[in-house]
Amino acid sequence: MFRTGLNRILIAVIVILALLAWFLRRDVSQPNYVFTPEMVFSVAYDSFAANPNYKDRKTLQPPVAGTVARGAMLFEYEATEADALRAGEELTNPWSERGIDADVFLSAKNRGRKVFSTFCLPCHGAVGNGDGPVAMRGFPPPPSLSAENSLNMSDGQMFHVLTFGQKNMPGYAAQISEDDRWKAILQVRSLQESAFRKAEAERLNQASIAVGEQLFQRLDCHKCHTVSPGEKPVGPFLGKVARDYTQEQLLEAVLHPSKTIAEGFLAQVFLMEDGTTHSGFVTGETDEQITIRNTDGNEIILLVEEIEERRTLEKSPMPDGMVKELSDDELQSLLDYLKSLAIPATAEPPSAEQNDEPANAENEVKEEELPNSLREKI
Ligand code: HEC
Ligand code: HEC
Repeated sequence: MFRTGLNRILIAVIVILALLAWFLRRDVSQPNYVFTPEMVFSVAYDSFAANPNYKDRKTLQPPVAGTVARGAMLFEYEATEADALRAGEELTNPWSERGIDADVFLSAKNRGRKVFSTFCLPCHGAVGNGDGPVAMRGFPPPPSLSAENSLNMSDGQMFHVLTFGQKNMPGYAAQISEDDRWKAILQVRSLQESAFRKAEAERLNQASIAVGEQLFQRLDCHKCHTVSPGEKPVGPFLGKVARDYTQEQLLEAVLHPSKTIAEGFLAQVFLMEDGTTHSGFVTGETDEQITIRNTDGNEIILLVEEIEERRTLEKSPMPDGMVKELSDDELQSLLDYLKSLAIPATAEPPSAEQNDEPANAENEVKEEELPNSLREKI
């Protein structure tokens, strides 16, 4: 009995509350009544507002002396040369290849490359030669980053240079985060490495060219071929072949001369009425006489009426197998020599930007594609 009475009252209360809620519909776009305004609306001072709570009446207080920011490295060095050297001895690059994951290192290096292009390239140039656009417009050009001084500079000292600057180079502590400064150094190291490899390759190539030149003499190539424009011509002039031929075509011309015979170099054989034979390249021809140049490079004039038979040789006058005794390395040297002939003596050294892409990129790729043995493919 009592229970149903209570239930009725409760139901009546709920209905009344529901009706009230409906009649007194609240504007939901307005905040509710606030019981604790200090908790809802901060009474904190603005950073730059005056503040009666501090002696100096400033809200923004300096950090307590000796505070170290989270993740910060202590850098207790002055902008002096002595401290640069000390930094060199005491600091190590946290991103150095040793001790970190290869992936992590790679992404640090990529970041370093970006930092370098943004902040360093303007003065130091794309490969660190010191020929950046700023230096090209009158700023004292920095020394090459692949020169001895930078090569011998430890990462820590370089970090000091990036932080405080060095003579004409301003410090970059304000513009480049510590982390990025270390990463930029990775890029400097990588530029140094490729400069070293380039120089090494050039040195090797020079050595190879020298070997090739000796072989050219030793194998008697010079007896038929001229390499400089002034010489008395015999066979084809080779001073420029490498410009028209790829490495593979050159290789074929040397290995199998008869497969592709240079234009105008099919030798002809003439059998004369008196029983003698002459062979060589026809260099001139009229109704009465034919001029040929024999394999010794001498011109001979044959009278047409005395010629009994005339034949064109199918084979190249250049014998097959001239290079069969050579090792692959020697053969490559011979080709390197032929290639070197095609480079004009007065050629300007490639500029820094082009250096990135080796001037003879095409040939280099070709060489890589060649099978273990140069000869296999041809
Ligand atoms: C405003 C031009 C400029 C910019 C930008 C610049 N440098 Fe330099 N840098 C120089 C000059 C100039 C020197 C030579 C200072 C001297 O005479 O010792 C130099 C020197 C250096 C050296 C020491 C070379 C040596 O042989 O002593 C290093 C390493 C170096 N810079 C790295 C960097 C890196 C990395 C960046 C990018 C974060 C950078 N620089 C940005 C102008 C610049
Ligand atoms: C007996 C003379 C003779 C000798 C020796 C000789 N060659 Fe040749 N070479 C020729 C003649 C002729 C041609 C043109 C016909 C041909 O393409 O095969 C030729 C063609 C070439 C070509 C292609 C030139 C072109 O423009 O197509 C190359 C490269 C070449 N020789 C390299 C060499 C080398 C390297 C040697 C030394 C190993 C050598 N030759 C030795 C006579 C000779």
